Amino acid sequence: MPTLDEYLAANRERFENNLCELLRIPSVSAEPPHRGDMANAAQWVADRLRRLQFDVELVPTAGNPLIVAQSPHVPGAPTALVYGHYDVQPVEPLDLWTSPPFEPTRRDGNLYARGATDDKGQLLTHVFSVEACLETEGRLPVNLKYLIEGEEEVGSGALWPYLKENAERLACDCVVISDGGQFAPGLPAITYGLRGIVGFELKLTGPNRDVHSGSFGGSVTNPANALSQMLAALVDRRGKVRVPGFYRDVKPLSKKERAQLAALPFDEAHYFQQIGVVGTTGEAGYTTLERRWARPTFDICGLTSGYQGVGAKTIIPSTASAKITFRLVPNQDPKKIGESLRAMLESICPPGIRMELMDQHGSPGVVISLKSPYVAAAARAIEHAFGRPPVYTREGGSIPVVLGFRDSLGADVLLMGWGQDDDNAHSPNEKFSLADFHRGIRASARLWQELSRVKRRAKAKG
Ligand code: BES
Ligand code: MN
Ligand code: MN
Repeated sequence: MPTLDEYLAANRERFENNLCELLRIPSVSAEPPHRGDMANAAQWVADRLRRLQFDVELVPTAGNPLIVAQSPHVPGAPTALVYGHYDVQPVEPLDLWTSPPFEPTRRDGNLYARGATDDKGQLLTHVFSVEACLETEGRLPVNLKYLIEGEEEVGSGALWPYLKENAERLACDCVVISDGGQFAPGLPAITYGLRGIVGFELKLTGPNRDVHSGSFGGSVTNPANALSQMLAALVDRRGKVRVPGFYRDVKPLSKKERAQLAALPFDEAHYFQQIGVVGTTGEAGYTTLERRWARPTFDICGLTSGYQGVGAKTIIPSTASAKITFRLVPNQDPKKIGESLRAMLESICPPGIRMELMDQHGSPGVVISLKSPYVAAAARAIEHAFGRPPVYTREGGSIPVVLGFRDSLGADVLLMGWGQDDDNAHSPNEKFSLADFHRGIRASARLWQELSRVKRRAKAKG
């Protein structure tokens, strides 16, 4: 049998080609016409896992199917649950892509495609590592369960109830997730905190059709004006969110953690320069890393009203709408914030406007304890593959179900992202560095060995 490194070296190109197969499936969960693509992507992942001698089930849900799989049982060894998602974000604006989003293309050491880093490429590192392990050792040293979903990018609606009803089946010692980033190129990280999120669509309706802004202007309430005023009321110039009670439950950062974050080798100038930003605003009194990872925010993610074509058109639009999100930190409650927001918007909505506020998704923020032998094992595996130990970071993004893993399954969660800040997740020209892809596979293979040596605590069964 080849050694692990020989096997990985010999199969680099095939791993990349297999990833490209999955990347060609346009599994955009937000858009109903992609329903069939969601099923195809789920099927692709299930087939891959079946080839590894896993017991695989495609679980239908009210939304997109889940893949639940389990490796052959190794008595006495720890059990890790690998979580990831096969759904991706919408690709618009299409004209800004250098190569089409679902035609994966290699350029300067990167693979470009929607889903390359978020999360198909990262997810598959944990699939190819198992293959490599089986082909070089003949067996896995740990028990692995896989739980792969197709609705992460729209809030994981179907996964929550499944998790609650199948806690026994999903029982594990730790959860392994690669769906985030390293701290910087060549500087891997273990992430111990994610922000939560609560999202809405706000729609305002005024006159029953677009009307001439000269004939009607001044006499009827303009929904676009009203929307601007209402949205502007939600946050002040110092970055404070104005929804009543918004900060009531926020757990403040400790002095110790602020010092730890400040000690990270953060290249702030480069961070802003890579996205072409000159001058910034943000919540007063906090550093950039604190603002990104550990403070709650309000953002408009989409804004629509009136004439969008070329040239001028003088109308009062009939409707105006916005997609908005609040990023949350422990211990803010998405439900309470939604209720307070609704009351506030109703109170400031001007006469002549009908308001609808539609819930999109909500999940709380999470901070995970690093005092775990599984975290130590993950750090060793990362150091082995990346040539240096990880730094410990939080992230500003959200993975809705992480809190469920910790609280419903009582498992230690390992967030070990292989991506980079400049991977263009959710943006045009999403990419994944091929070097990071292969390092990720190697780290994952090492992780199975490291986890197998962890002495299990009494609480877990199996
Ligand atoms: N992989 C991201 C979450 C993430 C982003 C983790 C950056 C670490 C760093 C995930 O796919 C994601 O984008 N989640 C959504 C969730 C939402 C739609 C409910 C997010 O954060 O916007
Ligand atoms: Mn993701
Ligand atoms: Mn995402």
